[in-house]
Amino acid sequence: MPNTVVVGAQWGDEAKGKVVDYLAERAGMVVRYGGGNNAGHTVTVEGATYKFHLVPCGILHGGVVCVIADGVVVDPEVLVQELHGLAAQGVSVANLRISANAHVIMPYHKEFDRLEEAAKGSSAIGTTGRGIGPAYADKASRIGVRMHDLVDEARLRKALDRVKEQKNAILTRVHGAAALDFEDIAQSYAALGAELRPYVCSTAYLVGEAAASDAGVVFEGAQGALLDLDMGTYPFVTSSHPLAGGACLGTGVGPTRIDAVLGVAKSYTTRVGAGIFPTELEDETGSYIRERGHEYGTTTGRPRRCGWIDTVVLRYSAMVNGLTCLALGHLDVLSGLDTVRLATAYRIDGEVTDKMPVDLVSQVGLTPIYEEMPGWSEDVSGVTRFEDLPEACRAYVRRVEELVGVPVGSVSVGPGREQLIVRTGVFPGA
Ligand code: IMP
Repeated sequence: MPNTVVVGAQWGDEAKGKVVDYLAERAGMVVRYGGGNNAGHTVTVEGATYKFHLVPCGILHGGVVCVIADGVVVDPEVLVQELHGLAAQGVSVANLRISANAHVIMPYHKEFDRLEEAAKGSSAIGTTGRGIGPAYADKASRIGVRMHDLVDEARLRKALDRVKEQKNAILTRVHGAAALDFEDIAQSYAALGAELRPYVCSTAYLVGEAAASDAGVVFEGAQGALLDLDMGTYPFVTSSHPLAGGACLGTGVGPTRIDAVLGVAKSYTTRVGAGIFPTELEDETGSYIRERGHEYGTTTGRPRRCGWIDTVVLRYSAMVNGLTCLALGHLDVLSGLDTVRLATAYRIDGEVTDKMPVDLVSQVGLTPIYEEMPGWSEDVSGVTRFEDLPEACRAYVRRVEELVGVPVGSVSVGPGREQLIVRTGVFPGA
C-alpha cells in the first residue's frame, strides 16, 4: 500500500473520511496532520454511524495505529468526549497515539475566536468558533500550550502563568469581556491531561519509521485546499495547511516518502462560512443539492452553501497538491437533474481565464463560464460497478477527469462503506 495523502480538493467537507476508511483497511497507520475539531468526519458502517472530530477514522480497523500528529491543535475536552463516545460504541482506542508536540486549544482560544469574529462584524470569516485560529496564533507566537504541558500539571501551570496576565488583559481591556479564572482552568485541564496521558508520546519516529517501511501510511487531511492559509482564498481560510504539503509539515515526514496524493472532491461544490464561491447556486437547484446531499455541517450543523462543480478550482487544487488521483463523491446527489453544469473558466471584468485569480477576495466582476451536460434520472445509490452507472453519469465523470487533468480513481454513490466504487489500477494500492 503506497504512502498516501488524502486531501480535500475544494473547501472542505468532501467526505474524506470514507476514502480514508477504505484505505485504512489496507494500511498500517493513519495520521491526522493538521487542523483540529473544526473538522468532522462521519463514517457509516453496516448501518452504524461514527462521528469523528480528532481521532483518525482508521481507529475502526483493529491493528491500525492512529496518530494525531504535531500539526494538529487538540481540544482536550472534545477529544476525551470523543474517546468516551467511541468506547460506548465498542470501538477500542488502544492504538491511538497523540504527539506530545501537538498544541492544545485552551478556553481562552475559544473565547477569543468568538470575540474576534463578533468584532469583525460584516467581514467575519464565519469560523467554526472552536478556537482554532487563536490556538495556531499562539503557536506561531511561541506562547502555546502543548500536549507535553497538558499531561504534566507542573508544566501546565508554568505555561499558564506565562500567559494569564496577557490573556486576561486582552479579554477585559480590549473586548470588555470577563476575565477567566486560571486556577480553575489549571485544575480542569490537568484532569483532562491525566486522562489523555497514556496516549501521548513522541510521534515523529513512529510515523517516520512507518513511512520508511512498507506498512503503508495514510495521511488524513482535514478541511480543503481552498481553505489553506497560504494557497486558499485568504482571509476566508482556516489557520493551518490542509494541502498535501501540510502532511509533511505536520508529521515530520519528508516529501520523498509520499507515494500518492488523493484529492477528494464532491460532484458539485460546497462551502461553509464566508468568502468567494464562484459557482454558488442561490436558487432551487442549490436547495435541491443541499437537501439531497444533507449538506449541513457535521461539526456546527450550519447549512452549507451549494453550487456546481468548479474545474478551475479543481485544476488549481490538482496543481498545489500534486494530485495523482481524484476521488469523486456524492454522484447520487445529482440524480434527478435534467442537466448538470461544470464551470470551465471565469470571465473577470470581460477577460476570460481558466486560472484562479491571485486575489480571490471579492466576487465582484467575476462570472463562471459553464459547460452543460445531460443529467441522469436513475437512482445510482445501489450501483457497485462503474460500468453500471448510467451513460450520462459516466460521461460526466469522464468530463471532470478531462477538464481537471487527473484520473478519477473512485466514485461514491452514497455514505456507506460499500457505496465507494474503486477503479482498479487508478486508485492508490487497488
Ligand atoms: P476555522 O477553521 O474554525 O478558523 O474557520 C475558518 C474557515 O474555515 C471558516 O470559513 C470555516 O467554515 C472553514 N472551515 C474550517 N473547518 C472546516 C471543515 O472541516 N469543513 C469546511 N469548512 C471548514
